[in-house]
Amino acid sequence: MLDRLLALRDRWLASSRFQRWAAMLPFTRPIARRQARALFDLCAGFVYSQVLLACVRLRLFDVLAGSPCAPAVVAERTGLSPGAAERLLRAAAALGLVAPRRGGRFGLGVLGAALRGNPALGPLIEHHALLYADLQDPVALLRGERPAGALAGFWPYAGTDRPAALPSDGVVPYSALMAASQSFIAAEILDAYPMRQHRCLLDVGGGAGVFLAAAAERWPKLRLMLADLPAVAALAQARFDELGLRDRAVAHALDFLVDPLPNGADLVSIVRVLHDHDDAAVLAILKAAHRALPIGGTLLVAEPLAGTPGAEPVGDAYFGFYLLAMGSGRARTVAEIGSLLMAAGFDRGRSLPTRLPLLTQVIAARRQA
Ligand SMILES: C[S@@+](CC[C@H](N)C(=O)[O-])C[C@H]1O[C@@H](n2cnc3c(N)ncnc32)[C@H](O)[C@@H]1O
Repeated sequence: MLDRLLALRDRWLASSRFQRWAAMLPFTRPIARRQARALFDLCAGFVYSQVLLACVRLRLFDVLAGSPCAPAVVAERTGLSPGAAERLLRAAAALGLVAPRRGGRFGLGVLGAALRGNPALGPLIEHHALLYADLQDPVALLRGERPAGALAGFWPYAGTDRPAALPSDGVVPYSALMAASQSFIAAEILDAYPMRQHRCLLDVGGGAGVFLAAAAERWPKLRLMLADLPAVAALAQARFDELGLRDRAVAHALDFLVDPLPNGADLVSIVRVLHDHDDAAVLAILKAAHRALPIGGTLLVAEPLAGTPGAEPVGDAYFGFYLLAMGSGRARTVAEIGSLLMAAGFDRGRSLPTRLPLLTQVIAARRQA
């Protein structure tokens, strides 16, 4: 019955007569305009992203941050011709990145100001150039007809049988991107899950150690262990030493798909790691965490999830295609993570509220017997 009603709706929506009628009538006009705009935005999304990339590459937001500027000044500071500077400013203004000010000048828009306050976004936007190159033929990508592309090269552990052998120059670019984007995530996780009752936290796939450094600051008595590939663990250990954490924090070099995790933690965190891997590998990681924890020990899984209310495109559209281009993994729903947790010997886990579920959700699970 519902299918028949929806089929009728779809036929109406597709009819040009209905579309004209909906755009004419005062009570349907706002809906028709909203739908037309949504459809156009989907068609034009790539153009919007490239406008943003141009702003970032030309450091437009830094240029405008001090005080609003006339297009001629922006031209001078970015090396664009006056006409090109004006074109970029108008495009960026239409997207809320910059805003027109009195006297024909432009200042930061709401989105441009927010972007400037988050230094991780510049590198993130820059590295999307790799993703967009890989997405040129999305159908070939879906059919598995494309060889590994630029994004797979950026995340080399996703496509090798021997990730532990990756040299330093293979891991530094992605570790720097992760480190730059970790501070917001760390605050979300640490606010969602107070760690005062724990003695020792093991961060699996902990990257260059930014999350553990934030946990160390928040919980001064907590001991810290990190597990990551050898070349990444070296970056983390250097950070811990530099921060004077040598007595509290140790980075373990290992391949978590093969090697046992270190024992001794009563809390394990896995932050932005599971979505990189297919189900069999996720199960192996969770089982390794299970073995490393005592009975009753806690596991925190933190990452952006599929089906997040209000952020559905992030999990299923963005990460769905991002991870396809990267070569492994997928965004999972809370229920899917819960099933994998249970298969590894944890309880189903409970979701802890975060302020920005678009960035990360947090699931806390306990090791059963
Ligand atoms: C997406 S990054 C997340 C890093 C960090 N947790 C964060 O949120 O910033 C995934 C991490 O998993 C690590 N990793 C991937 N495969 C691994 C493996 N087989 N063994 C150990 N670490 C691995 C990578 O080196 C990387 O640091």
